[in-house]
Amino acid sequence: MAPSADNPSARAGRGHRSAGGESGPGGADAAWHARKVAVAVTGGIACYKVAALVSRLSQAGATVRVLMTEAATRFVGTLTFESLSGAPVASSIWEAQEHHDSQHVGLARWCELLIVAPATADTIAKVAAGICDDIVSLTLCALPCQTPVLLAPSMNEQMWNNPITQRNMATVQRVLGYHVVGPETGWQACRTEGAGRMSEPEAILEAAAKLLPPLGRGDALKPLRA
Ligand SMILES: Cc1cc2nc3c(=O)[nH]c(=O)nc-3n(C[C@H](O)[C@H](O)[C@H](O)COP(=O)(O)O)c2cc1C
Repeated sequence: MAPSADNPSARAGRGHRSAGGESGPGGADAAWHARKVAVAVTGGIACYKVAALVSRLSQAGATVRVLMTEAATRFVGTLTFESLSGAPVASSIWEAQEHHDSQHVGLARWCELLIVAPATADTIAKVAAGICDDIVSLTLCALPCQTPVLLAPSMNEQMWNNPITQRNMATVQRVLGYHVVGPETGWQACRTEGAGRMSEPEAILEAAAKLLPPLGRGDALKPLRA
């Protein structure tokens, strides 16, 4: 099965396609003003592109919190994302606590939208199986079911076409209601052309804007302490 750009049969009720993402002069950026966005970075070669995504979100006025798996920190340092988001990066389940709540619970309650980019085969498999042993999979597991999640998968073509990966993609779309952008076909880090290349930051931004909940709903969520 080749997962589509989105999944209309999602059962979990995530996503708000009519809100946000207005086009027109300044429209797309205006949609992001003061919106609370979590960007989860997992360990793929496309991590470097996510720096541009976080920068674009920040420039558009979104409040961005970045989460990274240990593998992701091997590709791009936390300092890059801390500088671009202007906030600490969560890279361990054992670090900062939000008052009496765990960090992952605070983040999960705080964000209005969670983008996983790049989404590795490993993290997709973990989430599909309900494993939550790192800050990204744990926060995803703790996310309220109405909070939209956008995955931007990125991997080698054989990994993408692996039936287990495809089964896991079907699970996260159908059971968890996650939305998906890409992957595209094109040049890959393994120096071949194929399916599995992460969508470009602008395409991720455009897909994400369509998932922003109506303004006001986020106000009811627990604020994240700086
Ligand atoms: C150089 C290199 C590049 C990699 N690129 C990818 C990738 O693009 N996509 C992917 O799914 N895994 C990729 N991997 C494998 C993941 O890093 C590995 O599965 C890791 O456990 C993922 O952990 P995470 O999902 O917790 O971030 C790569 C590994 C190496 C060494």
